[in-house]
Amino acid sequence: MAFFTHHITRSLSSSVVRNAVIKNVTIIGGGQMGAGIAQVAAVSGHLVTIVDTSDSVLIKSIKGIEGSLKRVVKKKFADKPEAGQEFIQNVMKNVSTSTDAAAAVKKTDLVLEAIVENLKIKQDLFSGLDKVAPEHTIFASNTSSLPIGDIASSTNRLDRFGGLHFFNPVPMMKLVEVIGTSATGQETFNSLLSFSKALGKTPVSCKDTPGFIVNRLLVPYMMEAIRLHERGHGSKEDIDIAMKLGAGYPMGPFELLDYVGLDTAKFILDGWSAMDPGNPLFAQSEMLNKLVAEGKYGKKTGEGFYKYN
Ligand code: CAA
Ligand code: NAD
Repeated sequence: MAFFTHHITRSLSSSVVRNAVIKNVTIIGGGQMGAGIAQVAAVSGHLVTIVDTSDSVLIKSIKGIEGSLKRVVKKKFADKPEAGQEFIQNVMKNVSTSTDAAAAVKKTDLVLEAIVENLKIKQDLFSGLDKVAPEHTIFASNTSSLPIGDIASSTNRLDRFGGLHFFNPVPMMKLVEVIGTSATGQETFNSLLSFSKALGKTPVSCKDTPGFIVNRLLVPYMMEAIRLHERGHGSKEDIDIAMKLGAGYPMGPFELLDYVGLDTAKFILDGWSAMDPGNPLFAQSEMLNKLVAEGKYGKKTGEGFYKYN
């Protein structure tokens, strides 16, 4: 089983090696993750360009960021609504959009990819951008489940390639998993750590193993909840209530699956079950497959395990 290969261990506190300062950031994919990452990067003073496939998606990304910023300022500037409005305007000055990835990366320090969870599509994207991005530019993927080394192999900048895995909703979740492959340079790794901290996040160092830390534990848990329900051993409502009130989770597993996106959950599971077919933790679920086949991806499409307005 080539599931767990050799990986180098990295220090979170290494200060011997220099790290390049990241100021200009290009985020490819303006969906729920890309928009969230763009938001926290812009709030912390980075100049951010969001790239997606169409203007209509990008308009939705911008609306999503503005909506989320309004929720933030409602609390942060509770007594000063005008200052809150000014804050939003200043943050939005740091955000631009484009449908032309090759043009967008011309002057960027970091390309952070948050597109669909598909190895071939990610490789195609990075292999094209590798030819046009400046030499110093660091490439990073926000993949939930794919090996960073496999994505990086499509480029000639293995030393300047790593993983930066954020959590949904990005403005609220404080963790970033920073992933180095055996080829990632220490300077690159340090830059990714510093960038995460500059965004106000807490980084943890991860090896390039499937699911890194959080998803390797969280995805089997959510899948086991579906299987429990499929066996008729609990309604989804009861399972959600049980895990919230009995285990202190902020969302139950079905609420969380809908929040993450059932399409993304299935992409993750498909990849892992293909890599390790006998592993019962990665077994397919008919219920999940059916919902995805019907286009019910969860909160983002208005219906998944539950219905949303
Ligand atoms: N932007 C800005 N503020 C937000 C926000 C957002 N997207 N979402 C929530 N908030 C803030 C707001 O201040 C909100 O108050 P308002 O509704 O008045 O604006 C406040 O949080 C409370 O939010 P809610 O009342 O909606 O609900 P909540 O108290 O349950 O908090 C939550 C929401 C933070 C999402 C919480 O439910 C939670 O932590 N859920 C678990 C999320 C989780 O596990 N994420 C990881 C998913 S796995 C992953 O991401 C990895 C992967 O690769 C798949
Ligand atoms: P999403 O479906 O909300 O957004 C993906 C976006 O990428 C869409 O707007 C799509 O139009 C765009 N896109 C697809 N192909 C593209 C291309 N070639 N060029 C430019 N844009 C393209 O998905 P998401 O939930 O934001 O997930 C994005 C990535 O982040 C995935 O790799 C996912 O596994 C990972 N991730 C997801 C979560 C989560 O909770 N949803 C958490 C952490 C990481």
